[in-house]
Amino acid sequence: MGVSRALLRFLVSLSLIIQAAVTTANFFKPFNVSYDHRALIIDGKRRMLISAGFHYPRATPEMWPDLIAKSKKGGADVIQTYVFWNGHEPVRGQYYFEGRYDIIKFVKLVGANGLYLHLRIGPYVCAEWNFGGFPVWLRDVPGIEFRTDNVPFKEEMERFVKKIVKLMREEMLFSWQGGPIIMLQIENEYGNIESEYHQGGKEYVKWAAQMALDLGAGVPWVMCRQSDAPDNIINSCNAYYCDGFKPNSHNKPIFWTEDWDGWYTKWGGRLPHRPAEDLAFAVARFFERGGSFQNYYMYFGGTNFNRTSGGPFLITSYDYDAPIDEYGLLSEPKWGHLKDLHAAIKLCEPALVAADSPQYIKLGPKQEAHVYRVDTNTEGLNLTQYGSQSRCSAFLANIDERKAAVVRFLGQTYHLPPWSVSILPDCRNTVFNTAKVGAQTSIKMVEFELPLFSNISARQQFTVHDEVSYFSKSWMTVKEPIGIWSKKIFSVQAILEHLNVTKDHSDYLWYITRIYVSDDDITFWEEKQVRPTLTIDSMRDVLRVFINGQLTGSVIGHWVKVVQPVRFLQGYNDLVLLSETVGLQNYGAFLEKDGAGFRGQIKLTGFKNGDIDLSTLSWTYQVGLKGEFSSIYTVEENEKAGWSDLMVDAIPATFTWYKTYFNAPDGTDPVALDLGSMGKGQAWVNGHHIGRYWTLVAPKDGCQRTCDYRGPYNSDKCTTNCGKPTQTRYHVPRSWLKASDNLLVIFEETGGNPFDISIELHSVRIICGQVSESHYPPLWKWSLPDFSDGSISINNTTPELHLRCDDEHVIASIEFASYGTPQGSCQKFSKGNCHAPSSLSVVSEACLGRKSCFVGISNSVFSGDPCHGVVKTLAVEARCASSPNTLGASKL
Ligand code: GAL
Repeated sequence: MGVSRALLRFLVSLSLIIQAAVTTANFFKPFNVSYDHRALIIDGKRRMLISAGFHYPRATPEMWPDLIAKSKKGGADVIQTYVFWNGHEPVRGQYYFEGRYDIIKFVKLVGANGLYLHLRIGPYVCAEWNFGGFPVWLRDVPGIEFRTDNVPFKEEMERFVKKIVKLMREEMLFSWQGGPIIMLQIENEYGNIESEYHQGGKEYVKWAAQMALDLGAGVPWVMCRQSDAPDNIINSCNAYYCDGFKPNSHNKPIFWTEDWDGWYTKWGGRLPHRPAEDLAFAVARFFERGGSFQNYYMYFGGTNFNRTSGGPFLITSYDYDAPIDEYGLLSEPKWGHLKDLHAAIKLCEPALVAADSPQYIKLGPKQEAHVYRVDTNTEGLNLTQYGSQSRCSAFLANIDERKAAVVRFLGQTYHLPPWSVSILPDCRNTVFNTAKVGAQTSIKMVEFELPLFSNISARQQFTVHDEVSYFSKSWMTVKEPIGIWSKKIFSVQAILEHLNVTKDHSDYLWYITRIYVSDDDITFWEEKQVRPTLTIDSMRDVLRVFINGQLTGSVIGHWVKVVQPVRFLQGYNDLVLLSETVGLQNYGAFLEKDGAGFRGQIKLTGFKNGDIDLSTLSWTYQVGLKGEFSSIYTVEENEKAGWSDLMVDAIPATFTWYKTYFNAPDGTDPVALDLGSMGKGQAWVNGHHIGRYWTLVAPKDGCQRTCDYRGPYNSDKCTTNCGKPTQTRYHVPRSWLKASDNLLVIFEETGGNPFDISIELHSVRIICGQVSESHYPPLWKWSLPDFSDGSISINNTTPELHLRCDDEHVIASIEFASYGTPQGSCQKFSKGNCHAPSSLSVVSEACLGRKSCFVGISNSVFSGDPCHGVVKTLAVEARCASSPNTLGASKL
């Protein structure tokens, strides 16, 4: 018995050791990273690097492996993330590195997948993140001024940066230790605001750079948007386009740390979309004109869980229109088109790293070529390290925003669509053009679960546009008190600044006082037919005015004037002002001074004896909500809250908590709650804060019916969602759910109908492809440039149409297939004059029941030429389904 127990213990500890070894094992052998004027030099070799921006706390650790794998599959070499100070040090000196903030685990996962990591420590990060990543307690450090030559700030900043670098070193995560970290960042876009700090700003830049370098991290540091970055720090570009960027020294390479592939959104804003063709154009132009490191900001945006959204007014979703969407699903064709682009750039890498700079050739008024050519030793380079005798790769660009162009290049003719770049890895064959999308389009749909009680009846499917409402029978409710609810209150004869009181432990701060109204005042108002008015010089973000327990007015805005007529009764009136923040400022100079709540004069006007200066009254302060501080959203505490059943015909309007239980939908598809029936508040699932919600509607106008990829992008171009609430769906990560009895708790401020809340499953349901005979053959079929003459070769030049459903899904039916001259676009395809009768059977044969498939685009595949002398296209629309058993056989 004793022996077997000892053996068991031994086996258990052995397996733990093995497990630990596996999870901490580094993919890499130790390697050095340096740089020259052309590129990062990794293990002795210059590299062209594609980086995927992805912030670990914007997903759950359970989502990280899949997101990292999808980044790698999309062609990323590097993952880039910020480090979030306020997440890691919520209380000064108390560090937190667990759960979504387990940065060590994240970095190790990146390394274990064979990807490099660019760690942007900041510690100011901007990032649409609360307070730009600064802990709110930093405001309270005596004598502090942020981001300038200020001793208290520099001490705090240095302490945190040191802490992170030390942690990474202890965990052996730097490249020279065999870890994935190849590059770091100090500060963030300080150049944007430096001039506001005058000499102090200049000193601070020098100090920050030296402080970083002195840490001896052993990998290069960048400062983005910092044209006065000192010698040993690479200053990099952040923008929609960076192909004209010049670093501040000939010794530094051209790096693009933030390629904005979409944009963020505010409550009440439209949803921005950056077209894949334009994004690919920007990236191709960057590498064309000498760039060597490019990071997508964001490759995966994710979700601002909890109250991490920056501000003011940034929404909970941080989808960003990124190649991987908020739920972790691929956004197609963006992801696939970029994947093809990356493969094309990789085919050019040997020439790109071998040549010191491109040769520019003017091809037309708005057409140009950049050629990377190296002949044997002509440039005095030791080319053997690049494994080549001679190399030539070229980019042909047509920067005309309207017109296509035909150009001649090295004796051959090339057709260039408007606003596009063709990539020629051997200076002869075009393998990719940024405006020609061969990747599939995916249409994501939402499957509605019966609200919160999946045992009630079967699921139904709707497209995203369908409206549906389900009624759950059991919701419970409890009122949130207006004003004082605890003994932790205090009174002073002053209006205090909001953050000085809340320390951001809550969005909410109650200001409570009493106003005496005489008979004379009432008569005065009646005679003059006027009402007293609350006026405040300036206020942010939301103000709610309660008189005698009734909500009588709301104001929303960022440092706006308040002029709010009010109504009082004779005698003593309770006046309660609720000040709310909706994400703290994350951008700009002097953040520590920004504060929240009220500024300037605050008074009641229109009384018989003149105005009442409210700042001279005694105010009682109550921080936060009772429900929030008694944790009624947690599984452990919620029962104590005194819930009562909610009746359909008696839904309380304002300041109410609701709760219910629900079963998790089957399967692995990502889950969201549709809170479109609610007003404004916060929601928790099993104690996890899924974020703020707010059903503010975007302006009716300003969206484009069609999105033209041509011409420079900005965040007002190609917007959608006009006249609709900016966000109604809120991601509930699968790992926060159990099979049944999940506790959902909602705090609602303004009124809404919880009975209309539903659960949704997100997945790709429709996939479409459209590829013509004249398209390029798949990129992976090209062999790398030939050693002897630098040319690339291909065995089979047939283009192919590729389709793929998400994980756990298969192609269940072919909704449309036509080889010939099909018209329209995804979900609107129709047959043209030319159509091969075998189209549907060929595609069905290749694809049905499979997770992914491909079909060659040639006459032989479709048993003959359906129309001689015409360029044929294959267009397919297919449906993906989760269960192989329920395939749409009837469609066959
Ligand atoms: C940049 C900033 C990022 C992010 C981005 C907009 O200027 O460096 O952190 O805020 O803008 O999404």
